[in-house]
Amino acid sequence: MGKRARIAVLPGDGIGPEVTAAAVAILKAVEARFGHTFVLSEWLLGARALREKGMPLPDDTLSACRDADAVLLGAVGDPSYDLAPRDQRPEYGLLQLRKALGLYANIRPARLYRALADAGPLKPEIARGLDLVVVRELTGGLYFGTPRSVDLAAGTAVNTLPYTRPEIERILEKAFRLAKTRRNKVTSVDKSNVLETSQLWRAVAIEKGKAHPDVTLEHQLVDSCAMNLVLFPSAFDVVVTENLFGDILSDECGALVGSLGLLPSASLGDGPGLFEPVHGSAPQLAGRDLANPIGAIATAAMLLGDGLGLHEEAAAVHRAIEAALEKGARTADLAQKGIRALGTREMTRAIADEIAAATTTMEPAPGREAACGAPQ
Ligand code: IPM
Ligand code: MN
Repeated sequence: MGKRARIAVLPGDGIGPEVTAAAVAILKAVEARFGHTFVLSEWLLGARALREKGMPLPDDTLSACRDADAVLLGAVGDPSYDLAPRDQRPEYGLLQLRKALGLYANIRPARLYRALADAGPLKPEIARGLDLVVVRELTGGLYFGTPRSVDLAAGTAVNTLPYTRPEIERILEKAFRLAKTRRNKVTSVDKSNVLETSQLWRAVAIEKGKAHPDVTLEHQLVDSCAMNLVLFPSAFDVVVTENLFGDILSDECGALVGSLGLLPSASLGDGPGLFEPVHGSAPQLAGRDLANPIGAIATAAMLLGDGLGLHEEAAAVHRAIEAALEKGARTADLAQKGIRALGTREMTRAIADEIAAATTTMEPAPGREAACGAPQ
């Protein structure tokens, strides 16, 4: 039986509209192959919303997201707002949206595609087996903490890093549950040798670890974790951490697998989930058909699986990405010297064709669904 789902689409800024169009093309290919009906509606967020409506998260955008079954987002950010006050910046719209929808758990899987074993900066023998998920706390910490202020003339600024026990408990719970669908290991990342907030984080993590004795729990300081990700990437399974550390480490994971343009994410709370690639708006690439659409397409797969419960469809999208890469399709960020790079649209077509071509229903590839986090 086909499923009907409402998806709010927020293309945003920079390369956001291009990669969102790619994700939508893939959703349409899934619709056609599996007989679902996705009712898509487009809404403003970020710099375009600031220009057209004077605010980065217009009210109609927020209510459309609340009413949707899932939200698909491209990227926000525009350098022309670099000096604007916080609430007049594109990014503020995204932060408001995460907070308003209660999206406290940001799931960012990073896995090395077999065809890209030597695309990144790591030696292939070190990169081999890289398959981890960063579970990033998304509605607390420095991003939202008060007091906060900046006084450029006086040369002073303040940010605050608050966390409460319930906030830490719920994100750790997500991480432990996810680990049980994977390799049963959680690395909790903090800076407890310096930060009081991290002392609370670690104390709660230790308690949570006792409640999940079947999962191996380790603690790493964020600086050494950043190093270990490069040295021993395949030793990580689920990495759980606070908002800013998760933001930083997930970009590092992008580099490890070959390109930030490959990584998807799901932001989950109690209502509709928000699905967005990990990369930003990349203004220098915008409008040039150069952006890698795989991050956004893998995000569409997470939307299908984690957002709508369509796990077979999610697996089909992942297989299509793998198949296109196996056949040599590469965007400019991945192409090695002498190989013709595909544009955003050509790469999308190559992946959509794989979905259409795979007419038989196969078992999900081992580990794929787990890599993207089962709905909890
Ligand atoms: C991300 C982005 C955002 C963040 C920005 C655009 C606010 O970098 O999703 O990783 O810092 O969370
Ligand atoms: Mn980021």
